Amino acid sequence: MKADVFTLFPQWFEWFRTQRHVENALRLGHAVDTVDFRASTPLKWGQVDDTPFGGGAGMVLRVDVMEAALRGRYGVDPVQLRSQRRVIALTPAGRLLDDALASELAREPALTLLCGRYEGFDERILEHFVSDQVSIGRYVLAGGELAAMVVLDTVLRKLPGVLGDDASAVEESFSEALGGAPEYPHYTRPAEWRGWAVPDVLLSGHHGRVDEWRREQSRKRGGRPLP
Ligand code: 6GU
Repeated sequence: MKADVFTLFPQWFEWFRTQRHVENALRLGHAVDTVDFRASTPLKWGQVDDTPFGGGAGMVLRVDVMEAALRGRYGVDPVQLRSQRRVIALTPAGRLLDDALASELAREPALTLLCGRYEGFDERILEHFVSDQVSIGRYVLAGGELAAMVVLDTVLRKLPGVLGDDASAVEESFSEALGGAPEYPHYTRPAEWRGWAVPDVLLSGHHGRVDEWRREQSRKRGGRPLP
């Protein structure tokens, strides 16, 4: 997975890359690269945004600025780019990120993530350059960077070998393996604390019954019934 993040704050992603599972992914040959689109702006003084036509509050990211950055990075007309790789704009009103979308994106060899700031993107960026608009929830963040990190966090941990144990990303909350339901409860030592005991079945050593209990707990917590 080669992920490129277009952002005005590339240094924020240095911290992101220090997370254990992100580090693992990078060591395996995956990449999280940043492209500072202020660096390639064709406008003076590093300008990247402008006031909205028709008036109103805030600033809007310019289509010519985004085109220059995408052309600079990929050497093709950005109108063609979205048929070569997923080009994702992080927008509050986009498709809601869930486990299924994360799995879908984890199958892509390359992703481009565009982080907006201010009021958002000129609509022509979304219409002509972008294949997907993704949101991490129905609230507004000051910019797409945190959302891009959320997307990459959940996508990278699904890649084979990135977590210590690949099984942890298969049977977890909202996964296909659990029928989209939240995960079952976990317990570890001590087996009793302040009179709070771990369910007997988990101490029984009986894998069949443990499995049955976990599925039942997961189902009770919601989601579709298990197949
Ligand atoms: Cl993807 N971007 C911004 N700016 N705000 C958001 C979001 C994205 N998802 C939820 N809120």
